[in-house]
Amino acid sequence: MTRPRRLVRRTRRLEVRPLRAGDHARWRDAHRAALPKRNAWDRGRREEDALARARFRALLRDQEKRRAADLFYDLAVFRRDTGEFVGTVSAMDVLRGLSQSAYLGYFLVNRHWGRGYGKEAVRAMLDVAFRDLRLHRVEAGIEPGNRRSIALARSLGLRREGLKRRAVFLRGRWADLLMYSATCEEFGISWRGETRPRAV
Ligand SMILES: CC(C)(COP(=O)(O)OP(=O)(O)OC[C@H]1O[C@@H](n2cnc3c(N)ncnc32)[C@H](O)[C@@H]1OP(=O)(O)O)[C@@H](O)C(=O)NCCC(=O)NCCS
Repeated sequence: MTRPRRLVRRTRRLEVRPLRAGDHARWRDAHRAALPKRNAWDRGRREEDALARARFRALLRDQEKRRAADLFYDLAVFRRDTGEFVGTVSAMDVLRGLSQSAYLGYFLVNRHWGRGYGKEAVRAMLDVAFRDLRLHRVEAGIEPGNRRSIALARSLGLRREGLKRRAVFLRGRWADLLMYSATCEEFGISWRGETRPRAV
């Protein structure tokens, strides 16, 4: 039997957990306070309409539905000292069956870049992925020009496995992805081979 999934982590400076209804104001304020777009992978400031309470509720419903289907897990990242929303870390496109794997996603509001929050939050997500979700392998697909993301993957000790050609349709073209990966054993976690964890 698998353990129920907690999907919550407290690290030295951050709290990582699913978004809740009461988070709307800090989620909205963090996006409002974003700096102008800093690189091609950044979202910069969002339109005010996209930050409305109704849109946030729809986002929560969508996230809950995808978690319940064991397909996609978005976890919000908050600073523990100020409570600010910092960003999102994700286990995307979960595959069970023979591979027990997912893609790793991460995005930080750009005011918080360069302070090690990315590393701290993604490390927590890896722990969630390997322990709570019982995944065996995670992969990050990074466009070759995304230096910050490559630096983050390397600093986490992910293994560079090669270039996947014309892998995803992004910004109007088929983009190559550098693949970085890790398995649970590399993070000191043994995988017992259950085929599918219980729903949250
Ligand atoms: C990718 C992203 C999460 C990185 O966030 P971050 O705050 O810079 O990450 P961290 O501060 O934790 O830094 C992680 C590592 O990268 C290094 N780093 C950060 N910025 C760097 C830069 N511009 N050049 C080189 N190294 C850099 C840090 O020094 C750290 O390495 P270290 O632990 O060995 O010192 C953030 O830039 C982001 O949200 N980008 C937009 C979305 C995105 O690109 N997502 C990934 C898609 S694949």
